Amino acid sequence: MTKKLQDLRSARWFAKDDFRSFGHRSRVLQMGYGPEDFIGKPVIAIVNTWSDANQCHTHFKQRVEDVKRGILQAGGWPLELPAISLSESMVKPTSMLYRNFLAMETEELLRSHPVDGAVLMGGCDKTTPGLLMGALSMGLPCIYLPAGPMLRGNWRGQVLGSGSDAFKYWDERRAGRLSDQAWAEMEAGIARSHGTCMTMGTAATMMGIAEAIGFTLPGASSIPAPDANHVRMSAECGRRIVQMVWEDLTPARMLSAGSFANGIAVAMAMGCSTNAIIHLVAISRRAGLPVTLDDFDAASRHVGVIANIRPSGDRYLMEDFFYAGGLPAMMKVMAAKLDLAALTVNGRTVGENIAGAEVFNDDVIRPLDNPIYAEGALAVLRGNLAPDGVVIKPSAVAPRLLQHTGRALVFDDYPSLKAAVDDPDLDVTGDDILVLRNAGPKGAGMPEWGMLPIPTKLLKQGVTDMLRLSDARMSGTSYGGCLLHCSPEAFVGGPLALVKTGDRITVDVPARRIHLEVSDEELAARKAAWTPPPPRYERGYGWMFGRHILQAHEGCDFDFLETQFGAPVPEPVI
Ligand code: FES
Ligand code: MG
Repeated sequence: MTKKLQDLRSARWFAKDDFRSFGHRSRVLQMGYGPEDFIGKPVIAIVNTWSDANQCHTHFKQRVEDVKRGILQAGGWPLELPAISLSESMVKPTSMLYRNFLAMETEELLRSHPVDGAVLMGGCDKTTPGLLMGALSMGLPCIYLPAGPMLRGNWRGQVLGSGSDAFKYWDERRAGRLSDQAWAEMEAGIARSHGTCMTMGTAATMMGIAEAIGFTLPGASSIPAPDANHVRMSAECGRRIVQMVWEDLTPARMLSAGSFANGIAVAMAMGCSTNAIIHLVAISRRAGLPVTLDDFDAASRHVGVIANIRPSGDRYLMEDFFYAGGLPAMMKVMAAKLDLAALTVNGRTVGENIAGAEVFNDDVIRPLDNPIYAEGALAVLRGNLAPDGVVIKPSAVAPRLLQHTGRALVFDDYPSLKAAVDDPDLDVTGDDILVLRNAGPKGAGMPEWGMLPIPTKLLKQGVTDMLRLSDARMSGTSYGGCLLHCSPEAFVGGPLALVKTGDRITVDVPARRIHLEVSDEELAARKAAWTPPPPRYERGYGWMFGRHILQAHEGCDFDFLETQFGAPVPEPVI
């Protein structure tokens, strides 16, 4: 134990015999607590992203009580501090617009309250990075409690996967091959318990990354949300955070460059969502241990995908992954590719945590010599069209598209794309490259529009994949030949803004190259004729977002929230 009672941050609110402390104590007594509840005890914030509008966090209303139970058992005092919930499916125009909002809220909640440590409750896509980014900037000891994946979907005895099967069967329906009745049954069967998407989407990816970099107790990220193990894990988080406060185990003491290298390697082996790049870059920059797109690309060349989870994998879901041993078992398999000395929230190293882990199904968690995809989940391409990179998930692309030259069919915004997709006379073939622009961070808040719909005309011809290029993101449950996060984005005059329908684009994934087959002179002339579009928002949060959001390759944080921006924020005067 390194921390003394009088050194607790909360003691500045509660311990003194002065006028202000009288006020703070009397207001705690007002809530019905006695001095024995909180005097001399670590105060633990529980930042809870529960809301009636977040289907993935329904259980957090009960789980927070389990966390509190653990905190009380260990001699702490729990303070639940609710934060914006960010349901991936409900929040528009995109939850990405509000990830940094949650990060700001988390940081300021912790800073402004009498708090010594925090349990962070999240899971639905943006909540994990938002919570971690904010908590990192505040720097108090913190532990992350993942919501956990929902159970497998079920339709007439057939397994359904979040997102992936919705996309797949929607195409079937558009091609006229699925009845109204079957579609309605799927609607009722694809999400049948609380918890996050159970494919290897952004939620499962980010919960797994949080565990890999050390922010969860071992195995926490794989436990299905309705499992009794999840209840016990919640209480354990409460018990552990109190000890972390006494040990003064802050993120700064816990994290190292190796922690983030582990996060990237695990992301690759999981067959992660493309969104992992943006979020992990942002998280690492908050920690002052920045990783870049090149770190992901380098890792992808020596870590294969070994988690056989859809959409990269062919059949299994997160529930199967848990039964197969979960993340600790996967990390054990790839131990040679990890920094085993990296520290985690339980005070032990990654190596110690995974020592006893075991794989119970080696088709779900494959051995290194039998990966489902030999190279990692993501590749970063560069070229005259994307000087700061474009991201693709090769494991989810039809192989014929990995080296391909095609004619561009360009859309300036999503509504015009949507309107064209069902046009039976659209001039398009499966060899063309669909291009959507002005969907990047400043252009649209970077929504998940990047899996551009295959034109209905082509679906009816049996085309199931084609190259699609944008400055948008895509859902981690998506798949196909989608080139994403094109940086710099079109809205700020990136080369994507200069592409014309009919131009030829060459994509070469093995060579990590993307090239617009247009001369430098012609591109310079087009650039000179380009005029910037007006800003999207003239007041409010969007106004601030448009002025301060960084580009995709920089993690889309706000410039003023980054660690190196300005002097450190002082502790509040009490
Ligand atoms: Fe919440 Fe997918 S909608 S994790
Ligand atoms: Mg998603």
